[in-house]
Amino acid sequence: MRIGIMTSGGDAPGMNAAVRAVVRTALHNGIEPVGIMRGFLGIAGAAPDMRVLDTSSVSNILQLGGTILKSGRCAETHTPEGRDRAAGHLREAGISVLLAIGGNGTMMGLVDMLDHWDGGLILLPGTIDNDCGGTDYTIGYDTALNTALDSIDRIRDTAEAFDRVFLVEVMGRHCGALAVGAAIAGGAEEVIVPETATDLEALADRLIQGQRAGRGTSIVVVSENDEAGSATEIAAWLSERHSIETRVCVLGHTQRGGRPTANDRILASRLGVYAVRLAKETQGRVAAVVGIRNDRVGTTPLAEAAKEGGRVDPSLAELVNELAR
Ligand code: F6P
Repeated sequence: MRIGIMTSGGDAPGMNAAVRAVVRTALHNGIEPVGIMRGFLGIAGAAPDMRVLDTSSVSNILQLGGTILKSGRCAETHTPEGRDRAAGHLREAGISVLLAIGGNGTMMGLVDMLDHWDGGLILLPGTIDNDCGGTDYTIGYDTALNTALDSIDRIRDTAEAFDRVFLVEVMGRHCGALAVGAAIAGGAEEVIVPETATDLEALADRLIQGQRAGRGTSIVVVSENDEAGSATEIAAWLSERHSIETRVCVLGHTQRGGRPTANDRILASRLGVYAVRLAKETQGRVAAVVGIRNDRVGTTPLAEAAKEGGRVDPSLAELVNELAR
């Protein structure tokens, strides 16, 4: 048996730990692991880019951020021709299960493959956004959360020195998980996420009330892609409409890099081992997300997980305001 393994979409700390777990478990089980380079780009393009992996290919990568298989976002997978080409290349290489580590976009790519490929499909949720169905946590979320938190702690130091209002923009694509987590852990005064309606007048009011009550510093964590705008746009609005002076810090891709936390390494290792055993037990007749729920690793059918999506409990966002009072 041969399995293809790839990392796709935004890289996330812990992807390498997952690749290592998959490769080593495959080898222990007499399965040949084949690395597919740059996600779907490695199979959907005219010339496939794959390489057989052995135990030394994954030595000393457990602690590294990024991904040794590289990643990519592939327009071809959005076309039936691209998906047929990907399936053809997998068949030619004798691969019976495609195991992808990626986020929501990768999951949709696998769902689209269902009608084009008769082999197995497994997603290991890996993204800093924590926006995948079929799991409580994605590989990379914990590290990104701690990176964002570290930045917020540092911003708090300088904000306190000047009694300033800071808007800190974090990633998450369309999911506020990273923002809410960083806001609670960082003791932010406000959090703005795409899942809840943003009332800028109410935000301005609370900031002014806070200043009147003697609170010099406020940290507002802004999730990217909120309907109210980016942190920079919200800052401009606060200045123009209410003369509230702020500073903006966009954390950006710093959140994607760095050494994975212990939690992400452990999660990646557990999911990787489980996924390969699943591929073997089902003899490749599988289309599932391997995720973690209530600290137990298990599976959710791909199509079901895709409908589920990632969610943020809005009451967690409310907690931020409550604790800031
Ligand atoms: O999905 C991970 C992520 O980092 C999102 O949080 C962000 O919106 C997006 O990828 C950025 O993508 P890129 O690196 O292609 O600009």
